[in-house]
Amino acid sequence: MGVLFQVLVVSILTASLYMIWRILFSCWISPAGAYLKLKKNGFGGPTPNFPLGNHKEIKNISRKAAAAAAAASSTNITTFSSPGTSEISNDIHSSVFPYFSQWQKSHGKVFIYWLGTEPFLYIADPEFLKQMSSGVMGKSWGKPEVFKHDREPMFGNGLVMVEGDEWVRHRHVITPAFSPANLKAMSSLMVESTTKMLDKWAALINSGSQEIDVEREITATAGEIIAKTSFGISCENGSKVFEKLRAMQITLFKSNRYVGVPFSKLVFPGKTMEAKKLGKEIDALLLTIVTARKNSNEGCGQKDLLGLLLQENGVDGRLGKKLTTRELVDECKTFFFGGHETTALALSWTLLLLAMHPEWQNQLREEIREVTGDKEIDFTKLAGLKKVRC
Ligand code: HEM
Repeated sequence: MGVLFQVLVVSILTASLYMIWRILFSCWISPAGAYLKLKKNGFGGPTPNFPLGNHKEIKNISRKAAAAAAAASSTNITTFSSPGTSEISNDIHSSVFPYFSQWQKSHGKVFIYWLGTEPFLYIADPEFLKQMSSGVMGKSWGKPEVFKHDREPMFGNGLVMVEGDEWVRHRHVITPAFSPANLKAMSSLMVESTTKMLDKWAALINSGSQEIDVEREITATAGEIIAKTSFGISCENGSKVFEKLRAMQITLFKSNRYVGVPFSKLVFPGKTMEAKKLGKEIDALLLTIVTARKNSNEGCGQKDLLGLLLQENGVDGRLGKKLTTRELVDECKTFFFGGHETTALALSWTLLLLAMHPEWQNQLREEIREVTGDKEIDFTKLAGLKKVRC
């Protein structure tokens, strides 16, 4: 009994010491080594603190910038102002990322910053980027490990997360789906949702409404478009996936304030669990959709991205390069998250800038009138809209 007890105690102690060593190594020793190596190779940047990295500085700079913007806008009715001024500014960079803007002033256009114990390379120098992309093949770039854990419910093993030869395999199947001919076939889905939104705005204005929350409207419409063009929402399961994807996006946004900080998920256990649960529900629904469409010829012919991937998968299957059903599910989620807020925010900013510059609006309207005449805009005419494309 005595010996057994001793063996048990020694085993528990050894396991605990091993765990402590693993935690110390991955959270402290390895990042500290990376920091010194990066410094030796000439990469500067704000000094990180253990275990938050530069999170605290990010928070402080953002808070100060927001307070300065609020103070400025209370003295002058502005929609968006650059930090510390009352003028409306189109300097998106320092409005949205005041910390990057501040660090750029002190550390130049290429520097390292830390989210928790993970280093990130900031690049605002096109020449540096050009050299890096010509010297290193796309498949060798690698993806930050931290996002693989944090964003798992969003992207799974989709294109944004896979690396190396796996990335090449996914790209091989996915790239043809984005051909101009395929995008043209999807344009009617985009026009349909946009027209619905614009009709709603017209009705609101006609009813005397003074204010439209353009960003909210565009985010909702872009979400509808990306869901329709990714996996379709006409069937019941499709619209359920859309609702749950939106819910997960909001949940993850609330739970991921400390990306890269060891054990940060424990700070928001409720939200983390909620995102995981939603992720599982979305996967199950998408799995049903993919399986049903795989088993029906009609489903494969549908001209959304999933339909195109299923077609491409059939062709590539012969070459042994097809995506599994699970991978197709992850790609559907990837398209949604990759294509939603990116397009919604780009459009919102564009409309804000156009609102600030009515003379640009006039030029664009004139060009659209010249190119389309009285007809509805269609995909083939887009190439003629030179100013709009700028
Ligand atoms: C204004 C709109 C958009 C912007 C600014 C944008 C920006 C980006 C950026 C910066 C990346 C590189 C990310 C990285 O490698 O870490 C990326 C990758 C990607 N984006 Fe977009 N995106 C936009 C629209 C879209 C849309 C509409 C879709 C899908 C329907 C999409 C799907 C993807 C995918 C799948 C990748 C991964 C590509 C790969 O690794 O090979 N994006 N995007």
